[in-house]
Amino acid sequence: MRDQLEQIKKEALKQIEASDALEKLNDIKVAYLGKKGELTNVLKSMKDVAPEDRPKVGQLVNDARAVIEGKLEETIAVLQKKVREEQLNKEVIDVTLPAKRSKSGHTHPNTIALEEVERIFVGMGYEVMEGPEVEYDHYNFEKLNIPKNHPARDEQDTFYISDSIVLRSQTSPVQIRAMEEGKLPIRMLAPGRVFRSDEVDATHSPSFHQIEGLVIDKNITFADLKGTLAEFAKELFGPETKVKFRPHHFPFTEPSAEVDVTCFKCGGDGCRFCKGSGWIEILGCGMVHPNVLSMSGIDPDEYSGFAFGVGLERIALLKYEIDDMRLLYENDIRFLKQF
Ligand code: DAH
Repeated sequence: MRDQLEQIKKEALKQIEASDALEKLNDIKVAYLGKKGELTNVLKSMKDVAPEDRPKVGQLVNDARAVIEGKLEETIAVLQKKVREEQLNKEVIDVTLPAKRSKSGHTHPNTIALEEVERIFVGMGYEVMEGPEVEYDHYNFEKLNIPKNHPARDEQDTFYISDSIVLRSQTSPVQIRAMEEGKLPIRMLAPGRVFRSDEVDATHSPSFHQIEGLVIDKNITFADLKGTLAEFAKELFGPETKVKFRPHHFPFTEPSAEVDVTCFKCGGDGCRFCKGSGWIEILGCGMVHPNVLSMSGIDPDEYSGFAFGVGLERIALLKYEIDDMRLLYENDIRFLKQF
């Protein structure tokens, strides 16, 4: 039995030494030390050993196990180290190689322009609000003093979901929603997408964006409107910018005006950019019509207000001197990354 154990031990050590892979060592461990391994077999045959010799044989088995285990562990450690070193050698990191460019996209010029406009008005105490893109005809037209058959509906022909529901043609209905909330005074800004049945060209799209503004309080006058928009234009286009109010007509404001700013390209002398006039139109505005106030439950004898509507794309095109609106919708990264 002693010889048999010696034999097993020698054979195990030989195999361990000859192993060049961790998996092989595991196989050896199972073959010799496992439940059905060689050493266990010897222990099982203990019943054939004379009782007085059993402790001795037990001791011999344990010694053999300890030697094999020791050798296994030692060899495993050596092999693991070798594997790690090989891996490290293989995975040399060349820190001089150029880094991979991360493609993280780019803020759209519309978004940049919107954030700029929001920043200016929030700085004046305005709150940013949102309204639905699918809107009641009632809010989009009727409550803005545009009854059925009013000619203003022609210019703002849009997409009808049903007789009473439309894709909003302007952000002005958010004015009504703000007034109906019933909290006064109001200083709100409402950006969003609008829709019209327009053909696509360099200055038109069936879907574009507007930013609506509304202020309602006691004693609001046209002077407040003028001062506010003059300040806005200076902040947006530079401190030299002047504004000009041209009389206009909007059904929901009285009086109404369109606002031009001095051309920021030529400073007002006239150039190709402003088509020689020195002025560029940027928005529509006016004093909220008394009918609109009373239809939304506000007493026009007590309160007054002004409103304005800006085309977001128009601002982006002007600010970044882009000459075709379609570029804004193509999402070509070579275009977008220029801003
Ligand atoms: N909603 C108008 C349009 O789409 C723009 C506008 C003009 C908005 C005057 C206003 C305003 O709030 O007072 O043409």
